[in-house]
Amino acid sequence: MSARLATVSGAEYAGILGVGSYRPTRLVPNAELVDAIDSSDEWIQQRSGIRTRRWAGDDETVVSMGVAAAQRALEHAGVDAAQVDCVLVATISHLMQTPAAAPLIAHQLGTEQAAAFDVSAACAGFCYGMALASDMVRAGSARHVLVIGSEKLIDITDLTDRSTAFIFADGAGAVLVGPTDTPGIGPVVWGSDGEQDELITQRENWKSVIADPDPQMPHLVMQGNAVFRWAAFTMAKVASQALEQAGLTVDDLDAFVPHQANMRITDAMARAMKLPDRVTIARDIAEQGNTSAASIPLALDRLVAEGQVSSGDTALLVAFGAGLAYAAQVVTVP
Ligand code: UT7
Repeated sequence: MSARLATVSGAEYAGILGVGSYRPTRLVPNAELVDAIDSSDEWIQQRSGIRTRRWAGDDETVVSMGVAAAQRALEHAGVDAAQVDCVLVATISHLMQTPAAAPLIAHQLGTEQAAAFDVSAACAGFCYGMALASDMVRAGSARHVLVIGSEKLIDITDLTDRSTAFIFADGAGAVLVGPTDTPGIGPVVWGSDGEQDELITQRENWKSVIADPDPQMPHLVMQGNAVFRWAAFTMAKVASQALEQAGLTVDDLDAFVPHQANMRITDAMARAMKLPDRVTIARDIAEQGNTSAASIPLALDRLVAEGQVSSGDTALLVAFGAGLAYAAQVVTVP
């Protein structure tokens, strides 16, 4: 017998209802880390655009920072935690294999046992999460979804490694996705290239670390220049495809909020897409460093807080990183 199952359907459109972020207390200028990597403030600023970054202290964890960012996103949206049906956390630095960070964050926020899970797509994780949240709201599996990017990369960064020590940093950003009257999240353009896994990877897996008589944290290693070339050239095309799929052109854009990987990558993408000068470009990296999955909501929150974008503006997001996972979509600013 083949029984016919009932289905649900959700809102016609989904969008971002609120955004929030958490920046760790400790501000670290380039001068503080250059000796360990035989570098200079000038080199780091020239090659990456980074002037300072923030490193989380012992009391600032992926979970606590995620909670703080999510609370601010809920406040901005004017929605109570009890109305959240799903919490989705993009992270690569929650150093517990299980349980995931999301259920811990959901509990601390005071949700009514919201569905909760982590997404592991490195620096692309936040945009992956946005795509899932948008589809959930429209399909009816959730009405309000918190998408959180939270990273404490300092724990998996080797501060004597010249190619990563000055780049990676800590923080959290979050958005609340829910039903809207008009489309607020455009179609996602996403993918991955696992063949190039070696370009950004952890040195070892946990099993081989434990087997080592002198175990070391499996730090992130990066072939920076190869990642740079891939990101600067390929990601502009992905971002342009997301614009096209949303039925827009660069002339419709108010803001460009790329993953904050390197200021020169951002500039190269903007040039390749021929973004008009009036488009606001997120440059949070200068003060915040590269916070992987947290970088886009952190950057978006700064633009909102500083009044550089207004509610209803149109912003293009593009994220890329390890796994060579990438994702882009156009969103309406809350
Ligand atoms: O978030 C995930 C995605 N990640 C990214 O998108 C990061 C992408 N990559 C980058 O941002 C850049 O590749 C870096 C900022 C990491 C490095 O900049 P680069 O322009 O690609 O430098 P490079 O690795 O090609 O090295 C250029 C030179 C070399 O010296 P020579 O051979 O030209 O004499 C390096 O030895 O700079 C030297 N160098 C440094 N000098 C001072 C490399 N690292 C450093 C350093 N300080 N930290």
